[in-house]
Amino acid sequence: MFARTIFSRNRPKIVSLSNDARFKLSNSAPINEDCDHKPRRIFSGIQPTGSVHLGNYVGAILPWKKLQDSGEDVILEIADLHSITLPQDPKNLSQSILEMTASILACGINAEKVILFQQSSVFTHAELSWILGCTCTIARLSHLPAFKEKSSTLKDVPVGLFLYPVLQAADILAYKATHVPVGEDQWQHIQLTQDLAKMFNKRYGKCFPIPHTMITDNVYSRLKSLRDPNKKMSKSDPDPRSRISLLDKPDEIQKKFKKAVTDFTSEVYFDPERRPGVSNLISIHSIVSNKDIMEICRESKGLNTAQYKSLVADAVIEYLKPIQTDYHRLLSEEAYILEILQNGADRAKEISCRTMQEVKDKIGFSYSSKNTSFVTSRI
Ligand code: TYM
Repeated sequence: MFARTIFSRNRPKIVSLSNDARFKLSNSAPINEDCDHKPRRIFSGIQPTGSVHLGNYVGAILPWKKLQDSGEDVILEIADLHSITLPQDPKNLSQSILEMTASILACGINAEKVILFQQSSVFTHAELSWILGCTCTIARLSHLPAFKEKSSTLKDVPVGLFLYPVLQAADILAYKATHVPVGEDQWQHIQLTQDLAKMFNKRYGKCFPIPHTMITDNVYSRLKSLRDPNKKMSKSDPDPRSRISLLDKPDEIQKKFKKAVTDFTSEVYFDPERRPGVSNLISIHSIVSNKDIMEICRESKGLNTAQYKSLVADAVIEYLKPIQTDYHRLLSEEAYILEILQNGADRAKEISCRTMQEVKDKIGFSYSSKNTSFVTSRI
């Protein structure tokens, strides 16, 4: 509540999507446009590279869990096709897929309540991505901030990095998802998805609902780097001290908070515009203590920032303990994780193949799609 009064920039309409979570809707897709989004389907994903940090946790995994627990139809993917837009060591990548799955499960995602799968094991994503790419312009993609930012650091820019948002749109549309819970950094990618859905519907006839962006309506939608509070906490930051991984050991967590960049005022109060560093620490503290920001500020009166950093570190260590225990237990059960992913992929294929059939029919591929099923049935 407090956070909402602090932010002054124009915020899109807020709707309550469950009792304990509040999300905002993207204003580029008004609620009643194109379809009334009933029944709702939630789709989201995470790249398997690097370990989950607190930003991923509060911006994505925690909202996923809230949606799962309120009985929503939730589909989640480990976005491994996305992660090869930049070179990956194959051995590390397959281990990272297992580790990311174990992390998500350890955070409370329940594979019996949601569909959890590995993106590359469902071929429809790549297929639909090609089709959507044919409705999208180079100009539209080259204006996306994430592309501009990433490509500016590279001498040779892979085509995959450029096409990445189209693949993300295909992920979402292949399931006719109506809602996409993400952190604020993914905002423009979901807007592109909305545009591509509209474009497809206009050209070929109505097929896709226009998906809404769900972004947690508070400061957690963009946790900041501990080293530079003007940047988001990110897996790709070369300095590991910039983020708290869910798997960090207690002494690492203490050290990282000790080194967290704040400012020259020693008092603890919340002002994200003028004091982004301390405010980021307060946001983190609020998540792990389940207290609101006002309460934290009241309780922290009299502490200087050094003492406060140590207090936040202790609270984070305590909070992460059960997640870490579960993670290590799950990771030792590789067969169980693979079974979850296999089962998830089977269910995901069933849904997305139905969408692909409809897409192909609309485009005029009907002969080839009928022909394909004929061939398959004879094999
Ligand atoms: P990825 O793997 O970079 O991040 C996963 C999720 O974590 C959120 N996030 C944050 N939230 C708050 N504060 C932060 N500092 C922070 N850093 C990351 C991200 O917004 C994201 O929700 N392209 C996506 C993965 C993807 C996807 C999809 C998402 C692939 N297909 C379809 C939704 C729908 C990505 O790279 O997320």
